[in-house]
Amino acid sequence: MSLTQPAAVVVLAAGEGTRMKSRIPKVLHEIGGRSLLGHALTAARALDPARLAVVVRHQRDAVAAHASGLDAGVTIVDQDEVPGTGRAVQCALGALDAAAALEGPVVVMAGDTPLLDAGTLTELLAAHGADANAVTVLTTTVEDPHGYGRILREDGAVVGVVEERDATAEQRQIREINTSTYVFDAAVLREALGGVGQDNDQGEVYLTDVVALAHRRGLPVRAISVEDSWLVEGVNDRVQLAALGAELNRRTLERWMREGVTVVDPGTTWVDVDVELARDVTLLPGTQLHGRTRVDEGATIGPDTTLRDVVVGAGATVVRTHGSDAELGAGSTTGPFAYLRPGAQLGERGKIGTFVEVKNASIGPAAKVPHLTYVGDAEIGEGTNIGASSVFVNYDGVAKHRTRIGAHARTGSDNMFVAPVTVGDGAYTGAGTTVREDVPPGALAVSGGPQRNIEGWVLRSRPETDSARAAARALGHGPETTTPRDQQVPGATAEGDNNR
Ligand code: UD1
Ligand code: CA
Repeated sequence: MSLTQPAAVVVLAAGEGTRMKSRIPKVLHEIGGRSLLGHALTAARALDPARLAVVVRHQRDAVAAHASGLDAGVTIVDQDEVPGTGRAVQCALGALDAAAALEGPVVVMAGDTPLLDAGTLTELLAAHGADANAVTVLTTTVEDPHGYGRILREDGAVVGVVEERDATAEQRQIREINTSTYVFDAAVLREALGGVGQDNDQGEVYLTDVVALAHRRGLPVRAISVEDSWLVEGVNDRVQLAALGAELNRRTLERWMREGVTVVDPGTTWVDVDVELARDVTLLPGTQLHGRTRVDEGATIGPDTTLRDVVVGAGATVVRTHGSDAELGAGSTTGPFAYLRPGAQLGERGKIGTFVEVKNASIGPAAKVPHLTYVGDAEIGEGTNIGASSVFVNYDGVAKHRTRIGAHARTGSDNMFVAPVTVGDGAYTGAGTTVREDVPPGALAVSGGPQRNIEGWVLRSRPETDSARAAARALGHGPETTTPRDQQVPGATAEGDNNR
């Protein structure tokens, strides 16, 4: 085992999180597209510990299922009815020791400190090992230490931690605080926890008491202080959740900008931690990229675009679009005002245009769906153009059916493709066609009867309207030939006829 590989990491997640005022356990709330517990487990796993334990109690099933779902290798430990962080760790040691007694460094961290990173933990472990400490506690100095445990020092040496509610007025002046992140020698921790009582204002078993106990036994106890307090700030309420979420986002964007991504307005751009961006990607204002979204080189997203689990190919543009579980090919264009639903796929150089909704459909390379169209449960071949205002009529009220349109087809505007139906390669359809039967390759499909013109209908049925007057002029009639108002069709309106 290397100097910095811990025997175990114990993540504390049994607390109630009352101040969140939520049905959802505190550690399951998210920032940057990952739960607080997910952030903690990611940092913990990066240390490559021999064992990784999560202590649960409040809403234990939800927290345990979430933790196991994120990391199948975690040991779920149930805390009993004895309250306190010390008891939580004692329960964890009991469970972990059952297999084989832990030896060496044990990291303890809270499940609600989402910005704590593996780098900081590694430094803490390295310092612990280098100085052969019994206890190494991570601290930070803050402007307002209210609510935190204060670090007590004598002649510079750490001698204990006192909780806010147990502190004297003088101790409350101390601005160096306990971050709830520690490395303990396993044997020291096991022994000391046996001697910790519940003699404090909350009647809890405090993990912090181990610090003073170890010091009193003459064991080496040290503190490592982090300058960047954000890294160790815990979430207790939703105000902190938002503040830490914004800070995490700021850091995520900064990292991508340093990797060659242009972020025009970091203040209105939100990128989850698992999103991947390539060089020369441009994110325009109002862009939100969530989940496992991936954007390839040179693509431009935004303004005002929200994508979740969407893959965007190189050089593509996506303007004012809302999408999830979709794939947009290299050099394709999407939007403005497109809605991409799960299973939407656009080929290279293809186009999903304005007011177009696509669901469970693949649109081939260089194929275009430019305007006002719903494409659901369909395949559209390479180079095909779908006319404006068309609907892929996929639902018969009970089941969904597929439409297949071949390559290089040209379908007219205002078409209804009544699925299941197939339009062959190179086929055309006329404007307003309702496609109920398959169209063979190369055919032109038209539907509906021949057009009928009912001559003079407006002059008779909409007399004394601007339309009737315009028609009369065009037909070379005098105005006297329009029918008087008292012969109007009952109930008919005279829309637009307000200049009388
Ligand atoms: C704790 C520390 C305090 C430190 C602060 C940093 C103690 C006694 N105090 O106080 O010195 O400044 O964190 O944020 O440790 N938990 C359990 N079981 C329990 C109680 C808590 O697992 O019985 C877990 C919580 O889920 C949480 C963590 O331990 O993840 C910290 O608990 P919390 O109640 O927030 O402790 P604080 O009062 O903030
Ligand atoms: Ca806390």
